[in-house]
Amino acid sequence: MSGRIPREFIDELLVRVDIVDLIDSHVPLKKTGTNYVARCPFHTEKTPSFSVNRNKQFFHCFGCGASGNAISFLMDFSHLDFVEAVEDLAAFAGIDVPRESLGYQAESKKDDLNSLYVVMEQVAAFYVEQLRVSPKAIDYLKARGIKGEIARDFMLGYAPDKWGALSGRFSQKLLIEAGVMVRKDDGQAYDRFRGRIMFPIRDKRARIIGFGGRVLDDSLPKYLNSPETSLFHKGKEVYGLYELLQKNSKPQRILIVEGYMDVIALAQYGIDYAVAALGTAASQAHLDLLFRFSSELVFCFDGDRAGREAAWRAIASVFPSLKGGRQIRIMLLPQNHDPDSLVREEGLDKFTERIQSAQVLSDYFFEHFSKDLKLSEMEGRSNLRNEALSYLKQLPIGAFREMMFEKLSGLAKQYILDNEAILAQKKQVKKHQIKTGRLSLPSFVIALLLQNPKFIEIVEQKEIDWNQLEFEGVERFKSILHMITDKKPTNYGMLLEAYRDHADEGIVKKLASFDLLIPDDGTEAEFSDALNGLLKQGREAGIARLQAKAQSKGLDSHEQETLIKMLANK
Ligand code: UTP
Ligand code: MN
Repeated sequence: MSGRIPREFIDELLVRVDIVDLIDSHVPLKKTGTNYVARCPFHTEKTPSFSVNRNKQFFHCFGCGASGNAISFLMDFSHLDFVEAVEDLAAFAGIDVPRESLGYQAESKKDDLNSLYVVMEQVAAFYVEQLRVSPKAIDYLKARGIKGEIARDFMLGYAPDKWGALSGRFSQKLLIEAGVMVRKDDGQAYDRFRGRIMFPIRDKRARIIGFGGRVLDDSLPKYLNSPETSLFHKGKEVYGLYELLQKNSKPQRILIVEGYMDVIALAQYGIDYAVAALGTAASQAHLDLLFRFSSELVFCFDGDRAGREAAWRAIASVFPSLKGGRQIRIMLLPQNHDPDSLVREEGLDKFTERIQSAQVLSDYFFEHFSKDLKLSEMEGRSNLRNEALSYLKQLPIGAFREMMFEKLSGLAKQYILDNEAILAQKKQVKKHQIKTGRLSLPSFVIALLLQNPKFIEIVEQKEIDWNQLEFEGVERFKSILHMITDKKPTNYGMLLEAYRDHADEGIVKKLASFDLLIPDDGTEAEFSDALNGLLKQGREAGIARLQAKAQSKGLDSHEQETLIKMLANK
């Protein structure tokens, strides 16, 4: 786990994996000519403008401009950071990620994190052991109707009612860093969780990152959670995701509930696709995480006033992430019930029915606004329009937003124009036109070279003296040549990797995704011609400049020599 991922491995990975297979496993592709196309997963559209090219090992969307290689695809599609994307890609290829050892500091930092994971695992195992020998805790779980099998799946444990149960066993420094011990002002430390049923919180890769702990009686606080640590970030993790993915890696829907006990009771009754936001309202990051695994999320709230208010807050906060293809539904429970109590009372079938008939977010949204307004009167309709619009405007441009505007228009009995969407559409059309317009000759040559890095051989054979040439962008041209000579990429996707976070990344991507409209078998000839044209043009421009200077200011001896050479070469 520790250490950097060697550059050569990343290059090798990009050669081994075929981007078409990779993307096809996430977004089904259709073959058209040399490209594979689909509706773009990064923006909403009705006709496919997302294309994947096998030769270039590159994807590109003409609609929204998203583009990149296999690693970039995973980063964008699955919301991963670079290292996670490389790891996922390696897993897709079925190979392990090697690590090179680094300088002492970076190595030790990674090691620290690793030892925190290890200590968390040990602490969880200790709590499981303690549960076995604590009749009081076992009785509590029994009284709450929790079966042994479920307790095992969720690795439930018990933290003994002592201030120092952990300290003798593991490194105190690590325990404090991991958040399971607390350091007092006088330097002494004590166990954070005492006399509590322990719920380990695992990330999607099975690592224990935190705990929740419940008291056995009515003392307060009822639940205690791990503090923020270098492993645990409440706003980003949900309880139960690992356990859910164990059962089903692509669930049809995910149910979002409030409590640890709700997740566990539901799982015990066969609803093994519930997770809980950790004592906080579901955040944008939570939703992005969950939408990676399912396109439908069902929020479950208490039916009381507080529950309805929480539902409303959740809706308001998820609006900006509601793209097409993502569905959210809202389920309100009967008064005085939570999922735990309800599923026990009603059983699997009735509860599942409730989930299936949960209201879609758009209906819930408009009902919420319309409830206190008299829509039969003009005033009520105009109030609805004003209040709803401020929310609708937060929606990303796309099919869902369009549908919401249509619905609002219907309810308000007045056509409501979505100015921003219209503007965005115009811009998109314009962007598309620029992209397929003509390129300057230097840009055309670079574009061809980027799309076919093997043409570097043609350039090298010519033994060109670039210093004698003048054309727009000659410096960038040289730098790109240098990069290709240096990296010897077998395809464009690999070259792109070398440009990640490079100053020229933008221009390189733009040129590489330019549709040059050349049939495959004609590219080499086209490149030779274009390169010769560019050399000629560059030489002539150089000569012209020197000649002009000779007439005005005169040339120094070096310049004179260059001019003579250039005229001779012409
Ligand atoms: P609830 O108070 O609704 O409890 O808190 P619950 O889930 O029904 O738990 P039981 O059935 O009484 O055991 C819902 C969630 O809010 C967080 C926890 O994540 C809990 O599961 N919470 C609640 C806290 O973090 N701290 C608290 O003191 C209470
Ligand atoms: Mn409860």
